[in-house]
Amino acid sequence: MTRPLKVADREKTAERLLNSSADKFYDPEVDIDWAAPLVDGLRYTPEHRCSLYGTPLWDRMSEDQRIELSKHEIASIASVGLWFEILLMQMLLKEVYRSDPTTMHVQYALTEIADECRHSTMFARMVDKIGCPPYGPPAHVHRLGRLLPVIGYGPALYGSILVAEEVLDRLQRETMADETVQPLVRMVNRIHVLEEARHVRFAREEVVRGMATVSKAELPYQRWLLATVAMFITRSIINPKAYKAVGLDAAEAHRAALGNPAWQETIRWSGERIMKFLDEVGLVGKPGTRAWRRSFLLP
Ligand SMILES: [Fe+2]
Ligand SMILES: [Fe+2]
Repeated sequence: MTRPLKVADREKTAERLLNSSADKFYDPEVDIDWAAPLVDGLRYTPEHRCSLYGTPLWDRMSEDQRIELSKHEIASIASVGLWFEILLMQMLLKEVYRSDPTTMHVQYALTEIADECRHSTMFARMVDKIGCPPYGPPAHVHRLGRLLPVIGYGPALYGSILVAEEVLDRLQRETMADETVQPLVRMVNRIHVLEEARHVRFAREEVVRGMATVSKAELPYQRWLLATVAMFITRSIINPKAYKAVGLDAAEAHRAALGNPAWQETIRWSGERIMKFLDEVGLVGKPGTRAWRRSFLLP
């Protein structure tokens, strides 16, 4: 059985997070040099994080084509991230709508929404600057996404937010330290990593609090919803149109990426920390197991 995790006082955590937000935050409009030219020959993601890295398809690609693919992949990752941020802003706003705005908790939720507004603008601007389309997730996932703020509640809601935030966070931490990557991308990642650390703290505590009140009858739904959302996120990160943009067959490359052990390992690695947490609180299990496997977050 799962043991309940200790959790700090809700208002105290929110107060700390509010102070930290006031103390350290970025305004990407002014903190990023948007006029600086992109650097020739630099990649947009670390080479070994490309979804096709290590496949026979990769071996046949030229160096220029690989760099170009990394550019379209970062555009896909950023625009899928943006799409999810829009959904999570809607979910947070719903929480705010039904709660007391004079609490620190709600004020921090509003602060987080403000952070996400700046992030989404920043991601959009980066995609535009590098000259790629705002791919977002495939159309059917985009349509399904509308449901999430309607059917999502409780620990699965914050759990879904965490999967998106922590998977992206681990990839971004590695990228911001990689000198083979474009300075613009590294700076965008640095800004995002700094502010997301607070969001992760906020959501993790909400998951623990939520799990303490989830009934036995409700738990399977919470597990199923979380695993399903996670599966859609990880399998949609790279929109197949990104492959087409560099002259590959979209369907063939998409299949190759999903079957690529190196890419599956990248996703497993990126979700390592959050999966350990979700498992500890009891959110990983039937009836979500199949979706977790398909997400590559569980082996
Ligand atoms: Fe964000
Ligand atoms: Fe966030």
